[in-house]
Amino acid sequence: MTYLLRMQQKARRFLNSLQRTIGVRNPWQVAVYAVARARGAAGQGRYGLEPRIGEHPFDLEYGVQTGGLIASDPADATRHAYYGVSPSVFGRACRLWQKTLPPGVGSEACTFVDLGAGMGRAVLLASEFPFRRVVGVEVKGELVDVARRNIASWVAAGRAKSPIEIVKADVLHFSFPDGPLLIFLYNPFGEEILQQILDRLPSVTPPATIDVLYVHPIFGFLFGQRGDFERLWMKLVPMDSVDAKADAFRSTFETCVAYRRGPRKPGPTAP
Ligand SMILES: C[S@@+](CC[C@H](N)C(=O)[O-])C[C@H]1O[C@@H](n2cnc3c(N)ncnc32)[C@H](O)[C@@H]1O
Repeated sequence: MTYLLRMQQKARRFLNSLQRTIGVRNPWQVAVYAVARARGAAGQGRYGLEPRIGEHPFDLEYGVQTGGLIASDPADATRHAYYGVSPSVFGRACRLWQKTLPPGVGSEACTFVDLGAGMGRAVLLASEFPFRRVVGVEVKGELVDVARRNIASWVAAGRAKSPIEIVKADVLHFSFPDGPLLIFLYNPFGEEILQQILDRLPSVTPPATIDVLYVHPIFGFLFGQRGDFERLWMKLVPMDSVDAKADAFRSTFETCVAYRRGPRKPGPTAP
C-alpha cells in the first residue's frame, strides 16, 4: 500500500513538472505527451521524439522549420513551451475574426502582433492575409533565429502578402505599434504576464479597434474580469485531418476566442 502510494505521488510530481514545461495543458494532453516523449527516448522517431511531436506536414510542404514541442524552463512556469499553432485552426479563426470587423475597417489597416511567436508559424500564416504589417515577438534567441530563417524563405517563395518582422524581446518590454491591432495569443504565457499586457495596451480612436484572438485561452477569464473588453465569439475550431493527425496532444480542435477592446465601462460607484 505504502509502495503504491509512493508511486502515485511520484507519478503526480512527474506529470505536474511536465505540465509546467509544456505550458498548461489538460491532464489527458499531458499524459499523451508523456507517453510520446517516453517512446522518443526509447529511440522511436526522429529528433529523439515520437514523429507526431517532431514533424509537421506544413514544414515539409513549405520548406520551413516550425514543428516540435520545445519545453520551457520548469523553473519559470510563466513562459510557456513552444508549440506552433495548427495551420487549419489559425486560418479558420482568422477568417471568423475578419467577419467581425466594423464597416469601413479592413484588415489592411490593422497590424497583426503575435505575442510569443516562437519559430514563427503564426506570423507566416498571418502574412497570407492582407495586414498592414505582421510582427512577432519572441523572447528565446534560438527560436528568433529559426523564425527569421523561415520568414526569409517564405518571402522568397512569394507567399507573404504583408511585411513580416520578428522582434527579439520579452513581451513585457515590447512597445505596441500605433493604430488598429489584432493581437494573437496561442497559450504563450501565464496569468501575471497577460494581466500586465492588458494593463498597458495603447488606446485607439474608434472606429479603429484593438482585438485579441486567443487560442487555447486558459486565462481568458482575465478579459471577463475587466470592464473594457467585449467577447466577440468563442468557438471550438476544428483542425483539418492533416493537422489532427500531426497534433502532439491528439486533439482534433482548439478552443478559440476573440475579444474587442472598447471604451472602459465605469465600475460600480461607491455608495
Ligand atoms: C505556444 S508557443 C506559440 C508560438 C506561435 N505563436 C504559434 O502560434 O505558432 C508560445 C511561445 O511564446 C514564447 N514566450 C513565452 N513567454 C514569452 C514572453 N514573456 N515574451 C516573449 N515570448 C514569450 C515562448 O518562448 C514560445 O515560443
